Amino acid sequence: MMTFEQFMQHYKQETENCMKNAIVATNSDQKLEQSMIYSLEAGGKRIRPLLVLATIIAYGREPELGYQTAAAMEMIHTYSLIHDDLPAMDNDDYRRGKLTNHKVYGEATAILAGDALLTKAFEMIVSDVTLTATIKVDLIQLFAKNAGANGMVGGQQADILGENRTLSLSELESIHRRKTGALLSASVLSGAIIAGASEDDKKVLEKFAHHIGIAFQICDDILDVIGDAQKMGKKTGADSELQKSTYPALLSLEGAKQALAEHTDLAKQALGTLDIDATFLLGLTDLIAVRDF
Ligand code: IPE
Ligand code: IPE
Ligand code: MG
Ligand code: MG
Ligand code: MG
Repeated sequence: MMTFEQFMQHYKQETENCMKNAIVATNSDQKLEQSMIYSLEAGGKRIRPLLVLATIIAYGREPELGYQTAAAMEMIHTYSLIHDDLPAMDNDDYRRGKLTNHKVYGEATAILAGDALLTKAFEMIVSDVTLTATIKVDLIQLFAKNAGANGMVGGQQADILGENRTLSLSELESIHRRKTGALLSASVLSGAIIAGASEDDKKVLEKFAHHIGIAFQICDDILDVIGDAQKMGKKTGADSELQKSTYPALLSLEGAKQALAEHTDLAKQALGTLDIDATFLLGLTDLIAVRDF
């Protein structure tokens, strides 16, 4: 049996290999390819692919079945970060400890690299020879729904419209659920689809993922206030500069920490009701939400 550290290290590597191989095999324009690889290889915690694989393992299935899906999810996430950093959006200069994509390759290529990573993700799923056609269609539907206008992209739009405004807590939760929760949720649920989890289990996993999704963005918002920019590889204080709606802005730092603890508890409670080996999923939950601020 692997330890959690071994799980993290091993599957992070597998995901990274899978992404690199997929991009290098495309024979695309050199600059575009370099720009895609630049952001994929800039590092990152790889939380989403690890959630895909931890869910498959929780059901006792072979993690190899999820490699392409895990890599596809990290590509969609990376695309969302490239676009999130653009001048028209958050206008950030650093990401994952390196200059942002548009700072290196220019805005046009950064936009196109994001577009290409998003479309590549769907090609990755379609061309996966280890999964049945039915599973692939379910995965495509899940990813499309959660990445699109009712998921991540819709959340990003609401986040931008929320600048310079004071939102209610439920409006803020709705933004977090979409802009960050949707991809985390798709990660867990894609693992469940691949593992053949029951519909009842999927409902519980959806609840688990909902709470870790909110918890994840609350942490990100708290770290934007009190985190160490060096360690995080991105600038702090950006949210207040852009007058973003965040949990610390709305509830104060203490209130945000309490909301974080509540969502973390609810996530763990949901997981506790399932008859699975949740060791790695719990490890990832702690990594996401239990911080020594
Ligand atoms: C950052 O995501 C963007 C949010 C959704 C808050 P991560 O914190 O997972 O970023 P990386 O992938 O580790 O760089
Ligand atoms: C980004 O949220 C969410 C997505 C990219 C979908 P943030 O704008 O808070 O992420 P960071 O802080 O720049 O990583
Ligand atoms: Mg943003
Ligand atoms: Mg941002
Ligand atoms: Mg942030």
